[in-house]
Amino acid sequence: MGRSKLDKFADNRGFPNFFQVEDGRIVPENFPLRGCWDREFFRNGQPIVLELACGRGEYTVGMAERDAQCNFIGVDRKGARMWKGCKYSVEQGMPNVAFVRTQIQYLPCFFAEGEVQEIWITFPDPQPRNCKENKRLTSEYYLSVYRKVLADGGCVHLKTDSDFFLDFTLETLQRLQLPVLCLQRDIYRNGMPDSRLEIKTYYERMWLEQGKAIHYLKFAL
Ligand SMILES: C[S@@+](CC[C@H](N)C(=O)[O-])C[C@H]1O[C@@H](n2cnc3c(N)ncnc32)[C@H](O)[C@@H]1O
Repeated sequence: MGRSKLDKFADNRGFPNFFQVEDGRIVPENFPLRGCWDREFFRNGQPIVLELACGRGEYTVGMAERDAQCNFIGVDRKGARMWKGCKYSVEQGMPNVAFVRTQIQYLPCFFAEGEVQEIWITFPDPQPRNCKENKRLTSEYYLSVYRKVLADGGCVHLKTDSDFFLDFTLETLQRLQLPVLCLQRDIYRNGMPDSRLEIKTYYERMWLEQGKAIHYLKFAL
């Protein structure tokens, strides 16, 4: 039998590269690695790349295996999902991987201004109802959160199966006059502008089985 959720939470607490706020406070205060991930944790002077809404962390570990010159941190609120990627990174002894369990809106409590070089968002929930607009991970609100931690010249990568979500993001960027750096609809038909797009997530496999097209967008803030 597989491990239960509670087993996974217990495992997470023992992993050396899994971080969360333990005492039930909603907003983390004084997170010790904020502003010093490099000095106190990775100790290699390399840029930090975040995978937001990482689920099982396929991009976090997949990119880390391909690129030893960057550090990769998966962020999600669901610890039982993150357990899979974190366990793999520990078993493989990957020095450039970590996971942070939190709500994405609290990113600035975990990362200082300019501490993050790149952000990946893979298959976020489209939140199609109008009243959920602010919950979409590329809403104006979330972009303002990312801007607080992203370095000058940093960028955001989005991979999605949702035409609705892609169009919403493009409209938001246009309204805020933010530059689109790359847009490729249907990457399996039209080509992958970035080799990291070959990495597949749990949700991506589901959508591919249903015959859905997968889109890629890269933009600056
Ligand atoms: C559809 S799943 C995609 C997971 C993974 N990226 C994949 O492609 O398999 C969306 C994920 O977003 C996470 N999520 C959504 N909103 C979040 C938020 N505000 N803070 C942290 N995680 C969030 C959920 O917990 C869930 O794991």
